[in-house]
Amino acid sequence: MSAFEVIIYEKRDGIGYITLNRPQALNAYNIRMRDELYEVLEAVRDDPDVEVVILKGAGDKAFCAGADLTEFLTAPSPIIARQARFKRDVWGLFLCIDKPFIAALHGYVLGSGIEMALCCDIRLASEDARFGLPEPGLGIIPAAGGSQTLPRTIGRAAALEMLMSGRWLTAEEACRLKLVNRVVSRADLLSEAEKLAGKIKSHNRTAVHYIKQAVTRGLDLTLDEGLELEAKLGGRLLNVGD
Ligand code: COA
Repeated sequence: MSAFEVIIYEKRDGIGYITLNRPQALNAYNIRMRDELYEVLEAVRDDPDVEVVILKGAGDKAFCAGADLTEFLTAPSPIIARQARFKRDVWGLFLCIDKPFIAALHGYVLGSGIEMALCCDIRLASEDARFGLPEPGLGIIPAAGGSQTLPRTIGRAAALEMLMSGRWLTAEEACRLKLVNRVVSRADLLSEAEKLAGKIKSHNRTAVHYIKQAVTRGLDLTLDEGLELEAKLGGRLLNVGD
């Protein structure tokens, strides 16, 4: 694996650790991070040694404070900056990986920070986590899938309130809205994520992948189509054909 500048990638005991690593800028998401994230996501997708992935942020203050405003809303123009972000479909790649992703969220979780967390399957937050979507205040809309993934996670009304008002949530409020699965102490955040990863890892790998496919793809299908998908994956798992 090449040396990254703004991401740390590690692998231990079947767990891939992706750490957003720009703590001096609260791990703000810039073009470099997009490129490195793309590379690391391809690596975890293709690496049979990685069974579960934990996504986290470096430093004390933030998981990620959103898009890097210094490159995002400055010259040559926001439109060109945005076009650069669209050149690599990080979010499309992220959402189609069958392996389970756990987000370990602390401090500021803003804008694309929330959206990255929403690309994960399970979200744990520490008590100090704060969630917000500053986009409307900047005159923009989410660009990392948030307008689609947020309502699919917390429902239409709660998503619209967050997206349109820009109101921030505490970790407890985020948990009540089911934006995060659970709130733990800051000291326990990583170990809780690892415990969960260990539990998932103890199960049949293909069954876990198929469960993820059945649930995530099923959410966009009718009930009949979803049941068909479940039957197909179940059959494939038992090797009785498609
Ligand atoms: N892009 C680029 N740099 C950012 C950043 C971002 N999104 N968010 C924070 N930073 C930088 C700050 O400029 C500051 O850098 P400096 O030390 O060189 O001045 C450093 O990170 C620390 O941030 P600071 O603002 O001093 O911390 P704070 O605790 O006072 O405030 C926030 C934290 C998150 C409230 C504030 O930084 C903020 O509002 N950030 C922008 C959030 C945002 O709008 N994101 C875009 C979403 S689309």
